[in-house]
Amino acid sequence: MAKVLILLKTAKMSFLDQIDTIKLPQHIAIIMDGNGRWAKQKGKLRVFGHQNGVKAVREALEGCVKANIKFLTLYAFSAENWNRPKLEVMALMELLVTSLKKEIKTFQENGVRLNVIGDITKLPSNAQRKLQETIEATKENTHCTLTLALSYSSRQEIVDAARNLAQQVKDGKLHADEINDELFAANLYTQNLPDPDLLIRTSGELRISNFLLWQIAYSELCFLDKMWPEFTKEDLFKSIVDYQQRERRFGKTSEQL
Ligand code: FPP
Repeated sequence: MAKVLILLKTAKMSFLDQIDTIKLPQHIAIIMDGNGRWAKQKGKLRVFGHQNGVKAVREALEGCVKANIKFLTLYAFSAENWNRPKLEVMALMELLVTSLKKEIKTFQENGVRLNVIGDITKLPSNAQRKLQETIEATKENTHCTLTLALSYSSRQEIVDAARNLAQQVKDGKLHADEINDELFAANLYTQNLPDPDLLIRTSGELRISNFLLWQIAYSELCFLDKMWPEFTKEDLFKSIVDYQQRERRFGKTSEQL
């Protein structure tokens, strides 16, 4: 009996076992925040934080594959991030290229399809090339779609959609009163993705920072008091369990659900 008790105490149960596989979120989006502060706390350069942030990206992706989450979207580089010191921007672009080179094998083994949203024409040409190559190489994979938001601004995405629709009206292809929620969403960069069910942000900051503003209208939000390099699969599983305990009413009453 004592032995069993000791075993029970030492064998820590994973949050993965607590996930209800029937109520899985289809799409998880993450604002990966806190790389710089994490590095600073350790007396290191900000780039050290980003390098360790890549490990956390792997944790998040492996966690999604394990938990059978179909869509993972990561805020990897915002349109505003171009204003950071040149060396930091260059290091981030280099990390993106080396990570894609390294991870392609894992993508193929785990059925991960790569997708990108944002203005990638602003990225260095080697990064654009590597992204296109990886998107092409993984396009038949169906287990999980990993979307990287790069040079991404949600307001710009909404402006682009409005411009597209306005042009169609101008060309006589569309009536202004035909524009509705659905048509608007079909003109966003995320036209092929479901809206996120769950949005996670690390680092304790309580902001959305110009990320998927339209798409998160009914997402559940989860703010973690941890810096991104510290994020693990268990944090992902715990956030999913937390999400599953919430009641999503979409404007209805509890009784109507
Ligand atoms: C936020 O931390 C993080 C970023 C702006 C970049 C995220 C990039 C990575 C995790 C590495 C590369 C990504 C891929 C997909 C290979 P911060 O720098 O804003 O931290 P701070 O708020 O503490 O300054």
